[in-house]
Amino acid sequence: MKVKIFHENIFTLQQGKKRFLATRNLTPGLEVYGERLVQVDEAEYRIWEPKRSKLAAMLLKKLPSPFTTTSKVLYLGSATGTTVSHVSDIVQQGVVYAVEFSPRTMRDMLPVCEERANIIPLLADASKPQSYANVVEPVDVIFQDVAQPNQASIALSNVQHFLKPGGYLLMSIKARSVDSTAKPDTVFKQQLKTLLEQDNSKLELVKKQKLAPFHIDHLGVVVKKTE
Ligand SMILES: C[S@@+](CC[C@H](N)C(=O)[O-])C[C@H]1O[C@@H](n2cnc3c(N)ncnc32)[C@H](O)[C@@H]1O
Repeated sequence: MKVKIFHENIFTLQQGKKRFLATRNLTPGLEVYGERLVQVDEAEYRIWEPKRSKLAAMLLKKLPSPFTTTSKVLYLGSATGTTVSHVSDIVQQGVVYAVEFSPRTMRDMLPVCEERANIIPLLADASKPQSYANVVEPVDVIFQDVAQPNQASIALSNVQHFLKPGGYLLMSIKARSVDSTAKPDTVFKQQLKTLLEQDNSKLELVKKQKLAPFHIDHLGVVVKKTE
């Protein structure tokens, strides 16, 4: 397979006419959720499926990646660690604070955290950022995938607590989780309004993009904290 750099520490692997998104495995020989491992020269890559990860879909839909090797990341809605593990590959020397409020789901993520020293699991409710403020330091990136009715407010309160000036918030808005009866475009507009039109939010929209065909009725959003 032919490897190309897609963004910092994010790659595409080309096999004939097929192109796969991938990250370089921080724990060679170990897969996390049954993903394909591919050896090319000295490195091992983990195939990153956009249908299994909103973040992978956002990158393939040309939303910018703010992640670097040393980024500190607050990840809200980590579930069992599918996407968190790829972020862990990307920010090799940084840290991922992974927040999940379901104890059962968190239990399934713990083996991933045991193998990867840069993930700090936090069993907590992302709508109560003060409950983990004693652990989480100021971060460069917040990624949110919580599928909740008040997604924008949850994102905002975490931005206010933890995002550094110049940092980025990436979020996936699932229209049906916010309001299953309203039109997705109406929901997206209302969530963006909550996010961007607060007097003191200091957030500016960098780019938004629908995530179809990978995820239907989802909007990927990247915003920057200006100061
Ligand atoms: C769509 S799944 C996340 C999938 C994950 N981001 C991935 O790509 O691997 C949403 C997760 O957010 C969690 N969640 C929902 N509301 C939350 C909250 N207020 N605080 C923390 N976790 C929450 C759910 O339990 C669920 O595991």
